[in-house]
Amino acid sequence: MANYIADNSRYNNMEYKRCGRSGVLLPKVSLGLWHNFGGVDTYERSRQILRHAFDKGITHLDLANNYGPPYGSAEETFGRVMDDDLRPYRDELFISTKAGYDMWPGPYGDWGSRKYLMASLDQSLKRMHLDYVDLFYSHRYDPNTPLEETLQALVDIVRLGKALYVGISRWPLEATRFAINYLKQHYVPLLIYQGKLNMLDREPQEEGILDLCQQEGVGFISFSPLAQGLLTDRYLNGVPDDSRMAKGKFLRQDMLTDELLAQLRQWNEEAQAQGRTLAENALRWILEQQGVTSVLVGASSTEQLDKNLKCIKV
Ligand SMILES: NC(=O)c1ccc[n+]([C@@H]2O[C@H](COP(=O)([O-])OP(=O)(O)OC[C@H]3O[C@@H](n4cnc5c(N)ncnc54)[C@H](OP(=O)(O)O)[C@@H]3O)[C@@H](O)[C@H]2O)c1
Repeated sequence: MANYIADNSRYNNMEYKRCGRSGVLLPKVSLGLWHNFGGVDTYERSRQILRHAFDKGITHLDLANNYGPPYGSAEETFGRVMDDDLRPYRDELFISTKAGYDMWPGPYGDWGSRKYLMASLDQSLKRMHLDYVDLFYSHRYDPNTPLEETLQALVDIVRLGKALYVGISRWPLEATRFAINYLKQHYVPLLIYQGKLNMLDREPQEEGILDLCQQEGVGFISFSPLAQGLLTDRYLNGVPDDSRMAKGKFLRQDMLTDELLAQLRQWNEEAQAQGRTLAENALRWILEQQGVTSVLVGASSTEQLDKNLKCIKV
């Protein structure tokens, strides 16, 4: 691929929204590297999607230690793209990574201990060829580690300059309230909560997470906003060979019941009548919910990304 010079018009068509009561603005559409950026994927295609995303004003890229497959390889791909293309733009990018799920064997490669979080972030920085990340997350709540230990590790990570901000993902309500208070008392306010909110899954709203975040000035980013592709036209006429569902690991065919398919077709027809796509409407719906900062989409092509960016109204 030719040398990369970012598109001069990259900030013309994106909207940025303040993340809670912080100084940080995030693009309304952010890009996640869970799928399509691993060692099993074609490097040049992953690179093309990242370049395209930045050209469209997507400044926020979201990773985790175990994205791939294999684990760690999405961060390696990202590190390579940093070296090949994005290094001159480091200060225009807001990069997050996480630790919380199984990453390496033995008792120190999983959950929420200080030992795990500290070691994992050091590994992530090496793979991504970065000195620091903008945002580091506890990827999940650990019922067996004192919350103070996990949260103090996050505070110390910021003090050490390895992350600028901290976030939590998939923590239950009361633990989230505790985290907000603990971090506030230690002068490292919680920047953002990452949770699954989409037209098919409204748990963070029902549980009260969104209200809490809003009251406390914490941002909220919605992961899997398209329900891994269900809330698009991808599966309306069968299961394409190259789709996530065909791979079968994270999106199983038995999830696509007749009832769900009927609902998706109805939403698709409604979108078409408005001159839009189902994906566009699904993303708009999330961005209209009170307290939401950004939608964190995935994409296996630049064409998908472009379709999804239509939800931005500029
Ligand atoms: N915190 C957590 O625990 C957690 C959990 C899950 C995800 N995440 C984050 O959220 C990010 C996004 O998750 P996700 O990939 O599940 O998001 P998603 O946006 O719901 O699904 C993305 C997938 O949907 C399909 N798709 C996207 N746009 C499309 C379009 N316009 N038309 C047709 N199909 C389209 C593609 O699948 P095909 O491959 O079939 O083309 C794409 O890979 C992740 O990368 C990660 O950063 C976090």
